[in-house]
Amino acid sequence: MQHDSLQAVVVGAGTMGTTLAKLMAAQGVHVVVVDTNPQVLEASRLSMGAGAADVCFTTQLEMNQTPDFVIESVTENIAIKQKVVAQIEASVADTTIIMTNTSGIFIDDIGSSLRLPQRFLGTHFFNPADIVPTVEVVPGSHTEAAVVETACRWLKQLGKRPAVLNTCVPGFVANRIQHAIMRECLSLLEKGVVEAEALDDIVQYSIGVRMALNGPLCQRDLNGLDIHLNIARYLYPDLDSRDEPAALLEDYVAQGRLGAKAGRGFYRWSQESRAQHQTQERESLQRIIAIATQHEQKGES
Ligand SMILES: NC(=O)c1ccc[n+]([C@@H]2O[C@H](COP(=O)([O-])OP(=O)(O)OC[C@H]3O[C@@H](n4cnc5c(N)ncnc54)[C@H](O)[C@@H]3O)[C@@H](O)[C@H]2O)c1
Repeated sequence: MQHDSLQAVVVGAGTMGTTLAKLMAAQGVHVVVVDTNPQVLEASRLSMGAGAADVCFTTQLEMNQTPDFVIESVTENIAIKQKVVAQIEASVADTTIIMTNTSGIFIDDIGSSLRLPQRFLGTHFFNPADIVPTVEVVPGSHTEAAVVETACRWLKQLGKRPAVLNTCVPGFVANRIQHAIMRECLSLLEKGVVEAEALDDIVQYSIGVRMALNGPLCQRDLNGLDIHLNIARYLYPDLDSRDEPAALLEDYVAQGRLGAKAGRGFYRWSQESRAQHQTQERESLQRIIAIATQHEQKGES
Protein backbone atom coordinates (compact mmCIF):
# COMPACT_ATOMS: atom_id res chain seq x y z
CA MET A 1 0.00 0.00 0.00
CA GLN A 2 1.38 3.44 -0.89
CA HIS A 3 1.11 6.42 1.49
CA ASP A 4 2.58 9.17 -0.65
CA SER A 5 1.32 11.90 1.61
CA LEU A 6 3.21 10.67 4.70
CA GLN A 7 6.61 12.24 5.33
CA ALA A 8 8.76 10.97 8.18
CA VAL A 9 12.16 11.51 9.75
CA VAL A 10 13.96 8.81 11.75
CA VAL A 11 16.69 10.12 14.04
CA GLY A 12 19.28 7.44 14.88
CA ALA A 13 20.35 4.93 12.22
CA GLY A 14 21.33 2.05 14.48
CA THR A 15 19.65 -1.35 14.72
CA MET A 16 16.18 0.09 15.23
CA GLY A 17 16.40 3.24 13.11
CA THR A 18 17.52 1.18 10.12
CA THR A 19 14.64 -1.29 10.31
CA LEU A 20 12.18 1.55 11.02
CA ALA A 21 13.29 3.34 7.85
CA LYS A 22 13.14 0.07 5.91
CA LEU A 23 9.56 -0.46 7.07
CA MET A 24 8.50 3.03 6.07
CA ALA A 25 10.24 3.03 2.70
CA ALA A 26 8.58 -0.31 1.90
CA GLN A 27 5.19 1.29 2.67
CA GLY A 28 5.81 4.29 0.40
CA VAL A 29 6.51 6.81 3.18
CA HIS A 30 9.04 9.51 2.25
CA VAL A 31 11.67 8.96 4.91
CA VAL A 32 14.80 10.83 5.94
CA VAL A 33 17.28 9.08 8.25
CA VAL A 34 19.51 11.25 10.44
CA ASP A 35 22.55 10.06 12.42
CA THR A 36 25.50 12.07 13.70
CA ASN A 37 27.84 9.22 12.75
CA PRO A 38 28.48 9.04 8.96
CA GLN A 39 29.82 5.45 9.19
CA VAL A 40 26.60 4.32 10.87
CA LEU A 41 24.60 6.04 8.15
CA GLU A 42 26.55 4.23 5.45
CA ALA A 43 26.15 0.86 7.23
CA SER A 44 22.42 1.60 7.55
CA ARG A 45 22.16 2.39 3.82
CA LEU A 46 24.00 -0.80 2.86
CA SER A 47 21.92 -3.02 5.15
CA MET A 48 18.67 -1.70 3.63
CA GLY A 49 19.59 -3.07 0.22
CA ALA A 50 17.36 -1.94 -2.66
CA GLY A 51 14.98 -0.22 -0.20
CA ALA A 52 17.66 2.43 0.48
CA ALA A 53 17.10 3.95 -2.97
CA ASP A 54 14.01 5.77 -1.71
CA VAL A 55 15.54 6.91 1.60
CA CYS A 56 17.46 10.11 2.22
CA PHE A 57 20.45 9.79 4.62
CA THR A 58 21.94 12.81 6.37
CA THR A 59 24.06 13.79 9.36
CA GLN A 60 22.09 17.00 9.90
CA LEU A 61 18.60 17.57 11.23
CA GLU A 62 17.33 20.05 8.64
CA MET A 63 15.63 23.17 9.95
CA ASN A 64 12.06 24.22 9.05
CA GLN A 65 10.91 20.76 8.07
CA THR A 66 7.25 19.80 7.96
CA PRO A 67 7.23 16.00 8.18
CA ASP A 68 4.08 14.37 9.53
CA PHE A 69 6.11 12.67 12.21
CA VAL A 70 9.65 12.26 13.52
CA ILE A 71 10.73 9.14 15.40
CA GLU A 72 13.66 9.56 17.76
CA SER A 73 15.55 6.24 17.91
CA VAL A 74 18.93 7.23 19.34
CA THR A 75 20.92 5.60 22.13
CA GLU A 76 18.87 4.60 25.22
CA ASN A 77 20.22 7.40 27.40
CA ILE A 78 17.89 9.95 28.93
CA ALA A 79 20.19 12.96 28.53
CA ILE A 80 20.88 12.17 24.87
CA LYS A 81 17.21 11.60 24.17
CA GLN A 82 16.17 14.85 25.90
CA LYS A 83 18.68 16.77 23.80
CA VAL A 84 17.61 15.07 20.56
CA VAL A 85 13.87 15.61 21.05
CA ALA A 86 14.52 19.29 21.88
CA GLN A 87 16.56 19.59 18.64
CA ILE A 88 13.76 17.90 16.74
CA GLU A 89 11.18 20.29 18.17
CA ALA A 90 13.31 23.26 17.14
CA SER A 91 13.57 21.90 13.57
CA VAL A 92 9.99 20.99 12.71
CA ALA A 93 6.59 22.63 12.38
CA ASP A 94 4.30 22.76 15.43
CA THR A 95 1.98 20.27 13.72
CA THR A 96 4.60 17.52 13.44
CA ILE A 97 4.08 14.62 15.84
CA ILE A 98 7.25 13.64 17.71
CA MET A 99 7.67 10.02 18.81
CA THR A 100 10.32 8.38 20.95
CA ASN A 101 11.28 4.76 20.40
CA THR A 102 12.54 4.33 23.96
CA SER A 103 12.48 0.81 25.39
CA GLY A 104 10.99 2.04 28.64
CA ILE A 105 12.19 5.44 29.88
CA PHE A 106 9.38 7.66 31.22
CA ILE A 107 7.91 9.65 28.35
CA ASP A 108 7.48 12.75 30.52
CA ASP A 109 11.17 12.62 31.46
CA ILE A 110 12.32 12.49 27.83
CA GLY A 111 9.95 15.30 26.86
CA SER A 112 10.47 17.40 30.00
CA SER A 113 11.84 20.44 28.15
CA LEU A 114 9.50 20.36 25.15
CA ARG A 115 7.54 23.51 24.33
CA LEU A 116 4.61 21.42 22.99
CA PRO A 117 4.60 18.13 24.94
CA GLN A 118 1.01 17.49 23.80
CA ARG A 119 2.35 16.31 20.41
CA PHE A 120 4.94 13.97 21.95
CA LEU A 121 4.48 10.26 22.76
CA GLY A 122 6.29 6.94 23.03
CA THR A 123 6.12 4.39 20.22
CA HIS A 124 8.08 1.32 21.28
CA PHE A 125 8.85 -0.87 18.28
CA PHE A 126 10.43 -4.31 18.52
CA ASN A 127 13.49 -5.56 16.70
CA PRO A 128 13.38 -6.01 13.73
CA ALA A 129 10.95 -3.10 13.44
CA ASP A 130 10.09 -3.90 9.82
CA ILE A 131 8.82 -7.36 10.82
CA VAL A 132 7.54 -7.55 14.41
CA PRO A 133 3.90 -6.33 14.39
CA THR A 134 3.36 -4.85 17.87
CA VAL A 135 4.17 -1.26 18.75
CA GLU A 136 3.56 -0.17 22.35
CA VAL A 137 2.02 3.30 22.17
CA VAL A 138 2.74 5.21 25.36
CA PRO A 139 1.20 8.63 25.95
CA GLY A 140 2.93 11.01 28.34
CA SER A 141 0.81 12.94 30.82
CA HIS A 142 0.56 15.88 28.35
CA THR A 143 -0.06 13.89 25.14
CA GLU A 144 -3.33 14.83 23.44
CA ALA A 145 -5.79 12.00 22.73
CA ALA A 146 -5.95 13.11 19.08
CA VAL A 147 -2.18 12.67 18.78
CA VAL A 148 -2.45 9.10 20.10
CA GLU A 149 -5.26 8.40 17.63
CA THR A 150 -3.31 9.81 14.69
CA ALA A 151 -0.17 7.86 15.64
CA CYS A 152 -2.20 4.63 15.87
CA ARG A 153 -3.78 5.29 12.49
CA TRP A 154 -0.37 5.80 10.85
CA LEU A 155 1.04 2.72 12.58
CA LYS A 156 -1.85 0.65 11.23
CA GLN A 157 -1.16 2.06 7.77
CA LEU A 158 2.38 0.77 8.18
CA GLY A 159 0.96 -2.70 8.91
CA LYS A 160 1.62 -2.53 12.66
CA ARG A 161 -0.53 -3.52 15.63
CA PRO A 162 -0.45 -0.50 17.95
CA ALA A 163 -1.26 -1.34 21.58
CA VAL A 164 -1.99 1.74 23.71
CA LEU A 165 -1.01 1.81 27.39
CA ASN A 166 -3.29 3.69 29.82
CA THR A 167 -0.36 4.75 31.98
CA CYS A 168 3.37 5.07 31.45
CA VAL A 169 5.32 2.69 33.70
CA PRO A 170 9.08 1.96 33.49
CA GLY A 171 9.76 -0.73 30.88
CA PHE A 172 6.19 -0.34 29.58
CA VAL A 173 4.51 -3.79 29.29
CA ALA A 174 6.79 -5.92 27.14
CA ASN A 175 10.08 -5.20 28.87
CA ARG A 176 8.54 -5.67 32.31
CA ILE A 177 7.37 -9.14 31.26
CA GLN A 178 10.61 -9.96 29.47
CA HIS A 179 12.62 -9.00 32.53
CA ALA A 180 10.34 -10.92 34.90
CA ILE A 181 10.95 -14.03 32.77
CA MET A 182 14.71 -13.43 32.60
CA ARG A 183 14.98 -12.85 36.35
CA GLU A 184 13.61 -16.33 36.95
CA CYS A 185 15.71 -17.87 34.13
CA LEU A 186 18.92 -16.44 35.60
CA SER A 187 17.93 -17.56 39.08
CA LEU A 188 17.41 -21.13 37.83
CA LEU A 189 20.84 -21.06 36.15
CA GLU A 190 22.50 -19.67 39.28
CA LYS A 191 20.95 -22.36 41.45
CA GLY A 192 22.17 -25.03 39.00
CA VAL A 193 18.62 -26.31 38.49
CA VAL A 194 19.08 -26.55 34.72
CA GLU A 195 21.71 -25.91 32.02
CA ALA A 196 21.28 -23.02 29.56
CA GLU A 197 20.47 -25.21 26.58
CA ALA A 198 17.84 -27.26 28.44
CA LEU A 199 16.26 -24.08 29.83
CA ASP A 200 16.00 -22.57 26.35
CA ASP A 201 14.49 -25.81 25.04
CA ILE A 202 11.89 -25.93 27.80
CA VAL A 203 10.78 -22.33 27.36
CA GLN A 204 10.91 -22.24 23.55
CA TYR A 205 9.02 -25.47 22.92
CA SER A 206 6.43 -25.14 25.72
CA ILE A 207 5.23 -21.67 26.67
CA GLY A 208 7.12 -20.16 23.70
CA VAL A 209 5.28 -21.96 20.91
CA ARG A 210 1.95 -21.60 22.72
CA MET A 211 2.38 -17.86 23.20
CA ALA A 212 2.88 -17.42 19.45
CA LEU A 213 -0.80 -18.35 19.18
CA ASN A 214 -2.38 -17.02 22.39
CA GLY A 215 -1.47 -14.18 24.72
CA PRO A 216 -0.81 -15.24 28.31
CA LEU A 217 -4.25 -14.22 29.60
CA CYS A 218 -6.11 -16.00 26.79
CA GLN A 219 -3.89 -19.04 27.36
CA ARG A 220 -4.69 -19.08 31.09
CA ASP A 221 -8.42 -18.75 30.30
CA LEU A 222 -8.14 -21.86 28.19
CA ASN A 223 -6.20 -23.64 30.92
CA GLY A 224 -8.48 -22.65 33.83
CA LEU A 225 -7.94 -19.81 36.28
CA ASP A 226 -8.62 -22.06 39.30
CA ILE A 227 -5.68 -24.24 38.30
CA HIS A 228 -3.50 -21.14 37.86
CA LEU A 229 -4.52 -19.86 41.31
CA ASN A 230 -3.71 -23.17 43.01
CA ILE A 231 -0.23 -23.23 41.48
CA ALA A 232 0.34 -19.52 42.23
CA ARG A 233 -0.42 -20.14 45.94
CA TYR A 234 2.33 -22.69 46.46
CA LEU A 235 4.82 -21.42 43.84
CA TYR A 236 5.14 -17.67 44.41
CA PRO A 237 7.02 -17.90 47.70
CA ASP A 238 9.74 -19.82 45.84
CA LEU A 239 10.09 -17.53 42.80
CA ASP A 240 12.98 -15.10 42.48
CA SER A 241 11.96 -11.63 43.68
CA ARG A 242 15.29 -9.85 44.11
CA ASP A 243 15.41 -6.18 43.20
CA GLU A 244 18.85 -6.10 41.59
CA PRO A 245 20.32 -7.83 38.51
CA ALA A 246 21.58 -11.40 38.98
CA ALA A 247 25.26 -11.79 39.92
CA LEU A 248 25.61 -14.22 37.01
CA LEU A 249 24.59 -11.47 34.58
CA GLU A 250 26.93 -8.94 36.20
CA ASP A 251 29.80 -11.48 35.94
CA TYR A 252 29.18 -12.27 32.29
CA VAL A 253 29.08 -8.61 31.32
CA ALA A 254 32.23 -7.86 33.37
CA GLN A 255 34.01 -10.71 31.51
CA GLY A 256 32.95 -9.30 28.12
CA ARG A 257 30.44 -12.09 27.56
CA LEU A 258 27.95 -9.67 25.99
CA GLY A 259 26.21 -12.16 23.75
CA ALA A 260 26.41 -12.91 20.02
CA LYS A 261 27.95 -9.52 19.11
CA ALA A 262 30.95 -10.30 21.37
CA GLY A 263 31.31 -13.96 20.34
CA ARG A 264 30.08 -15.27 23.68
CA GLY A 265 27.11 -14.93 26.00
CA PHE A 266 25.29 -18.01 27.24
CA TYR A 267 26.55 -19.66 24.01
CA ARG A 268 29.56 -19.21 21.72
CA TRP A 269 29.02 -17.35 18.44
CA SER A 270 31.06 -16.70 15.31
CA GLN A 271 30.30 -13.85 12.92
CA GLU A 272 28.96 -16.46 10.49
CA SER A 273 26.73 -18.22 13.02
CA ARG A 274 25.34 -14.87 14.20
CA ALA A 275 24.61 -13.68 10.64
CA GLN A 276 23.08 -17.02 9.68
CA HIS A 277 20.89 -17.02 12.77
CA GLN A 278 19.69 -13.46 12.13
CA THR A 279 18.85 -14.15 8.48
CA GLN A 280 16.99 -17.34 9.32
CA GLU A 281 15.19 -15.60 12.18
CA ARG A 282 13.86 -12.86 9.87
CA GLU A 283 12.37 -15.45 7.51
CA SER A 284 10.98 -17.65 10.29
CA LEU A 285 9.45 -14.69 12.16
CA GLN A 286 7.43 -13.77 9.08
CA ARG A 287 6.04 -17.31 8.86
CA ILE A 288 5.20 -17.40 12.58
CA ILE A 289 3.48 -13.99 12.39
CA ALA A 290 1.41 -15.17 9.43
CA ILE A 291 0.26 -18.20 11.43
CA ALA A 292 -0.37 -16.16 14.59
CA THR A 293 -2.53 -13.61 12.76
CA GLN A 294 -4.60 -16.39 11.16
CA HIS A 295 -5.18 -17.94 14.58
CA GLU A 296 -7.41 -15.18 15.96
CA GLN A 297 -8.24 -15.28 19.65
CA LYS A 298 -11.80 -16.56 20.09
CA GLY A 299 -12.61 -14.94 23.45
CA GLU A 300 -14.47 -11.63 23.69
CA SER A 301 -13.61 -8.69 25.95
N1 LIG B 1 17.88 -2.90 19.77
C1 LIG B 1 16.69 -3.31 20.17
O1 LIG B 1 16.40 -4.51 20.21
C2 LIG B 1 15.64 -2.30 20.56
C3 LIG B 1 14.30 -2.70 20.57
C4 LIG B 1 13.32 -1.76 20.86
C5 LIG B 1 13.67 -0.45 21.17
N2 LIG B 1 14.99 -0.10 21.18
C6 LIG B 1 15.30 1.29 21.49
O2 LIG B 1 15.57 1.95 20.27
C7 LIG B 1 16.52 3.00 20.48
C8 LIG B 1 17.70 2.78 19.54
O3 LIG B 1 18.25 1.52 19.82
P1 LIG B 1 19.28 0.81 18.82
O4 LIG B 1 19.37 -0.60 19.28
O5 LIG B 1 18.93 1.13 17.42
O6 LIG B 1 20.62 1.59 19.24
P2 LIG B 1 21.96 1.74 18.41
O7 LIG B 1 23.03 1.96 19.39
O8 LIG B 1 22.09 0.63 17.42
O9 LIG B 1 21.70 3.09 17.57
C9 LIG B 1 21.60 4.35 18.17
C10 LIG B 1 22.07 5.37 17.13
O10 LIG B 1 21.82 6.68 17.62
C11 LIG B 1 22.82 7.51 17.06
N3 LIG B 1 22.88 8.78 17.78
C12 LIG B 1 23.33 9.01 19.03
N4 LIG B 1 23.19 10.32 19.32
C13 LIG B 1 22.61 10.91 18.23
C14 LIG B 1 22.21 12.24 17.93
N5 LIG B 1 22.38 13.23 18.81
N6 LIG B 1 21.64 12.49 16.72
C15 LIG B 1 21.48 11.49 15.83
N7 LIG B 1 21.86 10.21 16.06
C16 LIG B 1 22.41 9.93 17.25
C17 LIG B 1 24.09 6.70 17.19
O11 LIG B 1 25.10 7.15 16.29
C18 LIG B 1 23.58 5.29 16.84
O12 LIG B 1 23.75 5.02 15.46
C19 LIG B 1 16.89 2.92 21.95
O13 LIG B 1 16.12 3.82 22.67
C20 LIG B 1 16.55 1.48 22.33
O14 LIG B 1 16.27 1.32 23.71
C21 LIG B 1 15.97 -0.98 20.87
